[in-house]
Amino acid sequence: MYESSFTPLREFVFLEKSESTNNDIKLKIRQSAEPVFAVISAKEQSGGRGRLGRSFFSPSGGLYFSISFPLSGEEKNIPFFTLLAGLSVSLAIEQLTGVRTLIKWPNDIYYNDKKLGGILCELVSGKTLTAAAGIGINLSLEKEDIPEELTSVMTSFCAEGLSPPKTDELIRKITDILDTFIYEQKQLFSVSPEIIGAIRSRSYSIGKKVKYETEDGVISGTVTNINTNGAAEITLPDGTKREIFCGEII
Ligand code: BTN
Repeated sequence: MYESSFTPLREFVFLEKSESTNNDIKLKIRQSAEPVFAVISAKEQSGGRGRLGRSFFSPSGGLYFSISFPLSGEEKNIPFFTLLAGLSVSLAIEQLTGVRTLIKWPNDIYYNDKKLGGILCELVSGKTLTAAAGIGINLSLEKEDIPEELTSVMTSFCAEGLSPPKTDELIRKITDILDTFIYEQKQLFSVSPEIIGAIRSRSYSIGKKVKYETEDGVISGTVTNINTNGAAEITLPDGTKREIFCGEII
Protein backbone atom coordinates (compact mmCIF):
# COMPACT_ATOMS: atom_id res chain seq x y z
CA MET A 1 0.00 0.00 0.00
CA TYR A 2 0.99 3.66 -0.09
CA GLU A 3 3.64 5.31 2.14
CA SER A 4 2.85 5.07 5.82
CA SER A 5 2.51 8.84 6.16
CA PHE A 6 0.16 8.97 3.18
CA THR A 7 -3.00 10.96 3.83
CA PRO A 8 -5.03 11.37 0.68
CA LEU A 9 -6.26 14.74 -0.42
CA ARG A 10 -9.87 13.99 -1.09
CA GLU A 11 -12.43 15.49 -3.41
CA PHE A 12 -15.78 15.98 -1.64
CA VAL A 13 -18.97 16.07 -3.71
CA PHE A 14 -22.26 17.01 -2.02
CA LEU A 15 -25.44 16.17 -3.95
CA GLU A 16 -29.04 17.06 -3.13
CA LYS A 17 -30.24 13.76 -4.54
CA SER A 18 -28.73 10.65 -6.06
CA GLU A 19 -29.99 7.30 -7.20
CA SER A 20 -27.16 5.69 -5.23
CA THR A 21 -23.88 7.30 -4.19
CA ASN A 22 -22.21 3.91 -4.63
CA ASN A 23 -23.29 3.98 -8.29
CA ASP A 24 -21.93 7.55 -8.59
CA ILE A 25 -18.55 6.70 -7.14
CA LYS A 26 -18.24 3.51 -9.20
CA LEU A 27 -18.90 5.49 -12.38
CA LYS A 28 -16.33 8.10 -11.37
CA ILE A 29 -13.73 5.40 -10.70
CA ARG A 30 -14.41 3.63 -14.02
CA GLN A 31 -14.18 6.88 -15.97
CA SER A 32 -10.93 8.06 -14.37
CA ALA A 33 -7.43 7.39 -15.65
CA GLU A 34 -6.04 8.37 -12.23
CA PRO A 35 -6.65 6.88 -8.76
CA VAL A 36 -9.86 8.40 -7.36
CA PHE A 37 -9.83 9.63 -3.76
CA ALA A 38 -13.37 10.90 -3.44
CA VAL A 39 -16.30 11.17 -1.12
CA ILE A 40 -19.76 11.53 -2.67
CA SER A 41 -22.71 12.23 -0.41
CA ALA A 42 -26.39 12.85 -1.04
CA LYS A 43 -29.24 14.14 1.12
CA GLU A 44 -31.48 11.40 -0.25
CA GLN A 45 -31.27 8.45 -2.63
CA SER A 46 -33.95 7.17 -4.98
CA GLY A 47 -32.38 3.73 -5.41
CA GLY A 48 -30.22 3.12 -2.35
CA ARG A 49 -28.67 -0.34 -2.42
CA GLY A 50 -27.88 -2.71 0.43
CA ARG A 51 -26.03 -6.02 0.65
CA LEU A 52 -27.36 -9.19 -0.95
CA GLY A 53 -29.25 -7.23 -3.63
CA ARG A 54 -31.53 -5.51 -1.13
CA SER A 55 -32.70 -1.93 -1.31
CA PHE A 56 -31.77 0.62 1.34
CA PHE A 57 -34.53 3.03 2.38
CA SER A 58 -32.91 6.46 1.89
CA PRO A 59 -35.31 9.39 2.45
CA SER A 60 -34.10 12.86 3.39
CA GLY A 61 -33.12 12.92 7.07
CA GLY A 62 -30.37 10.36 6.65
CA LEU A 63 -26.72 10.48 5.71
CA TYR A 64 -25.77 8.61 2.55
CA PHE A 65 -22.23 8.68 1.22
CA SER A 66 -19.55 6.64 -0.49
CA ILE A 67 -15.78 6.80 -0.12
CA SER A 68 -13.24 5.42 -2.61
CA PHE A 69 -9.94 3.82 -1.63
CA PRO A 70 -7.57 3.13 -4.53
CA LEU A 71 -5.52 0.00 -3.82
CA SER A 72 -1.90 -0.34 -4.83
CA GLY A 73 -2.07 -4.07 -5.64
CA GLU A 74 -4.45 -6.35 -7.46
CA GLU A 75 -5.56 -8.22 -4.33
CA LYS A 76 -9.27 -8.92 -4.76
CA ASN A 77 -9.77 -10.34 -1.29
CA ILE A 78 -10.01 -7.60 1.34
CA PRO A 79 -11.73 -9.42 4.20
CA PHE A 80 -11.39 -6.59 6.71
CA PHE A 81 -12.71 -3.73 4.61
CA THR A 82 -16.34 -4.01 5.74
CA LEU A 83 -15.38 -4.60 9.37
CA LEU A 84 -12.99 -1.62 9.35
CA ALA A 85 -15.74 0.54 7.81
CA GLY A 86 -18.16 -0.57 10.54
CA LEU A 87 -15.61 0.14 13.25
CA SER A 88 -14.89 3.59 11.77
CA VAL A 89 -18.61 4.46 11.77
CA SER A 90 -19.04 3.28 15.34
CA LEU A 91 -15.91 5.12 16.57
CA ALA A 92 -16.82 8.34 14.73
CA ILE A 93 -20.35 8.35 16.14
CA GLU A 94 -19.03 7.80 19.65
CA GLN A 95 -16.38 10.51 19.32
CA LEU A 96 -18.89 13.07 18.05
CA THR A 97 -21.94 12.23 20.16
CA GLY A 98 -20.93 9.90 22.99
CA VAL A 99 -23.43 7.35 21.65
CA ARG A 100 -22.04 3.79 21.60
CA THR A 101 -23.31 1.80 18.63
CA LEU A 102 -22.61 -1.86 17.91
CA ILE A 103 -21.64 -3.75 14.74
CA LYS A 104 -23.87 -6.60 13.64
CA TRP A 105 -21.47 -8.79 11.66
CA PRO A 106 -20.56 -8.00 9.02
CA ASN A 107 -22.03 -4.65 7.99
CA ASP A 108 -24.85 -3.23 10.10
CA ILE A 109 -24.66 -0.53 12.73
CA TYR A 110 -26.99 -1.26 15.63
CA TYR A 111 -28.39 0.77 18.48
CA ASN A 112 -30.94 -0.45 20.97
CA ASP A 113 -31.38 -3.76 19.08
CA LYS A 114 -32.32 -1.98 15.84
CA LYS A 115 -30.49 -1.04 12.66
CA LEU A 116 -29.23 2.54 12.74
CA GLY A 117 -27.12 2.22 9.62
CA GLY A 118 -25.66 -0.08 7.02
CA ILE A 119 -22.52 -0.41 4.93
CA LEU A 120 -22.15 -1.69 1.38
CA CYS A 121 -18.57 -2.36 0.31
CA GLU A 122 -17.73 -2.99 -3.32
CA LEU A 123 -14.55 -3.53 -5.34
CA VAL A 124 -14.34 -1.57 -8.57
CA SER A 125 -12.02 -2.57 -11.42
CA GLY A 126 -11.20 0.80 -12.89
CA LYS A 127 -7.75 1.68 -14.21
CA THR A 128 -6.78 1.34 -10.55
CA LEU A 129 -8.45 -1.38 -8.50
CA THR A 130 -10.47 0.59 -5.96
CA ALA A 131 -12.48 -0.33 -2.89
CA ALA A 132 -15.65 1.69 -2.28
CA ALA A 133 -17.46 1.92 1.05
CA GLY A 134 -21.08 3.10 0.90
CA ILE A 135 -22.43 4.17 4.25
CA GLY A 136 -26.00 5.00 5.20
CA ILE A 137 -26.94 6.27 8.67
CA ASN A 138 -30.43 7.20 9.85
CA LEU A 139 -30.14 10.57 11.55
CA SER A 140 -33.19 12.81 11.85
CA LEU A 141 -35.94 10.49 10.66
CA GLU A 142 -38.80 10.67 13.14
CA LYS A 143 -40.43 7.48 14.41
CA GLU A 144 -43.58 8.18 12.40
CA ASP A 145 -41.53 8.54 9.18
CA ILE A 146 -40.26 4.97 9.45
CA PRO A 147 -42.43 2.65 7.33
CA GLU A 148 -44.56 0.39 9.49
CA GLU A 149 -42.98 -2.79 8.15
CA LEU A 150 -39.56 -1.51 9.25
CA THR A 151 -40.38 -0.13 12.72
CA SER A 152 -39.35 -3.33 14.52
CA VAL A 153 -35.95 -3.49 12.81
CA MET A 154 -34.91 0.06 11.94
CA THR A 155 -34.24 3.16 14.02
CA SER A 156 -32.66 6.62 13.81
CA PHE A 157 -30.98 9.06 16.19
CA CYS A 158 -34.17 11.13 16.46
CA ALA A 159 -36.43 8.09 16.83
CA GLU A 160 -34.27 7.14 19.83
CA GLY A 161 -34.45 10.65 21.31
CA LEU A 162 -30.75 11.25 20.55
CA SER A 163 -29.22 14.38 19.00
CA PRO A 164 -27.78 13.41 15.63
CA PRO A 165 -24.20 14.43 14.75
CA LYS A 166 -23.65 17.12 12.08
CA THR A 167 -23.50 15.38 8.71
CA ASP A 168 -20.34 17.07 7.44
CA GLU A 169 -18.49 16.37 10.70
CA LEU A 170 -19.56 12.74 10.63
CA ILE A 171 -18.50 12.27 7.00
CA ARG A 172 -15.10 13.83 7.73
CA LYS A 173 -14.52 11.83 10.91
CA ILE A 174 -15.47 8.46 9.36
CA THR A 175 -13.32 9.18 6.29
CA ASP A 176 -10.31 10.21 8.40
CA ILE A 177 -10.51 7.11 10.59
CA LEU A 178 -10.83 4.79 7.56
CA ASP A 179 -7.97 6.53 5.74
CA THR A 180 -5.79 6.01 8.83
CA PHE A 181 -6.72 2.31 9.10
CA ILE A 182 -6.13 1.65 5.41
CA TYR A 183 -3.22 3.86 4.36
CA GLU A 184 -1.29 4.63 7.55
CA GLN A 185 -1.85 1.50 9.63
CA LYS A 186 -2.28 -0.87 6.64
CA GLN A 187 -5.00 -2.92 8.32
CA LEU A 188 -6.80 -4.00 5.16
CA PHE A 189 -5.31 -7.48 4.80
CA SER A 190 -4.60 -8.33 8.43
CA VAL A 191 -5.64 -6.39 11.49
CA SER A 192 -3.74 -5.64 14.69
CA PRO A 193 -4.79 -7.18 18.02
CA GLU A 194 -5.98 -3.72 19.05
CA ILE A 195 -8.31 -3.42 16.04
CA ILE A 196 -9.75 -6.93 16.31
CA GLY A 197 -10.25 -6.23 20.02
CA ALA A 198 -12.17 -3.05 19.20
CA ILE A 199 -14.29 -4.92 16.63
CA ARG A 200 -15.08 -7.65 19.17
CA SER A 201 -15.90 -5.23 21.96
CA ARG A 202 -18.39 -3.47 19.68
CA SER A 203 -19.89 -6.66 18.28
CA TYR A 204 -23.65 -6.95 18.44
CA SER A 205 -23.41 -10.53 17.18
CA ILE A 206 -21.14 -12.20 19.77
CA GLY A 207 -23.27 -14.13 22.24
CA LYS A 208 -26.37 -14.10 20.04
CA LYS A 209 -28.17 -17.31 19.03
CA VAL A 210 -28.28 -17.36 15.24
CA LYS A 211 -29.27 -19.30 12.16
CA TYR A 212 -27.16 -19.46 9.04
CA GLU A 213 -28.00 -21.01 5.69
CA THR A 214 -25.27 -23.26 4.31
CA GLU A 215 -25.22 -25.38 1.14
CA ASP A 216 -26.22 -28.36 3.31
CA GLY A 217 -29.09 -26.62 5.07
CA VAL A 218 -29.63 -24.23 7.93
CA ILE A 219 -27.36 -24.42 10.97
CA SER A 220 -28.24 -22.99 14.38
CA GLY A 221 -25.75 -21.99 17.03
CA THR A 222 -24.27 -19.12 18.98
CA VAL A 223 -21.82 -16.55 17.65
CA THR A 224 -18.79 -17.04 19.89
CA ASN A 225 -16.19 -14.84 18.24
CA ILE A 226 -15.11 -12.63 15.37
CA ASN A 227 -11.93 -14.39 14.32
CA THR A 228 -8.63 -12.78 13.37
CA ASN A 229 -9.43 -13.59 9.71
CA GLY A 230 -12.63 -11.51 9.90
CA ALA A 231 -14.96 -14.53 9.94
CA ALA A 232 -17.81 -14.92 12.40
CA GLU A 233 -17.37 -18.05 14.50
CA ILE A 234 -20.54 -19.99 15.22
CA THR A 235 -20.47 -22.71 17.87
CA LEU A 236 -23.07 -25.43 17.31
CA PRO A 237 -24.88 -27.17 20.21
CA ASP A 238 -22.46 -30.14 19.94
CA GLY A 239 -19.47 -27.80 20.41
CA THR A 240 -18.40 -27.84 16.74
CA LYS A 241 -17.19 -24.47 15.49
CA ARG A 242 -18.01 -23.14 12.02
CA GLU A 243 -16.47 -20.07 10.40
CA ILE A 244 -18.73 -17.86 8.32
CA PHE A 245 -17.10 -15.56 5.77
CA CYS A 246 -20.07 -14.14 3.88
CA GLY A 247 -23.83 -14.02 3.74
CA GLU A 248 -26.07 -13.22 6.62
CA ILE A 249 -26.54 -14.56 10.12
CA ILE A 250 -30.06 -14.23 11.39
C1 BTN B 1 -27.08 -2.69 3.93
O1 BTN B 1 -27.88 -2.33 4.78
O2 BTN B 1 -27.04 -3.87 3.50
C2 BTN B 1 -26.08 -1.71 3.42
C3 BTN B 1 -26.68 -0.36 3.16
C4 BTN B 1 -25.71 0.63 2.54
C5 BTN B 1 -26.37 1.91 2.17
C6 BTN B 1 -25.41 2.94 1.65
S1 BTN B 1 -26.14 4.53 1.56
C7 BTN B 1 -24.82 5.14 0.62
C8 BTN B 1 -24.43 4.03 -0.33
N1 BTN B 1 -25.25 4.08 -1.53
C9 BTN B 1 -25.99 2.99 -1.68
O3 BTN B 1 -26.76 2.77 -2.63
N2 BTN B 1 -25.79 2.16 -0.66
C10 BTN B 1 -24.82 2.68 0.29
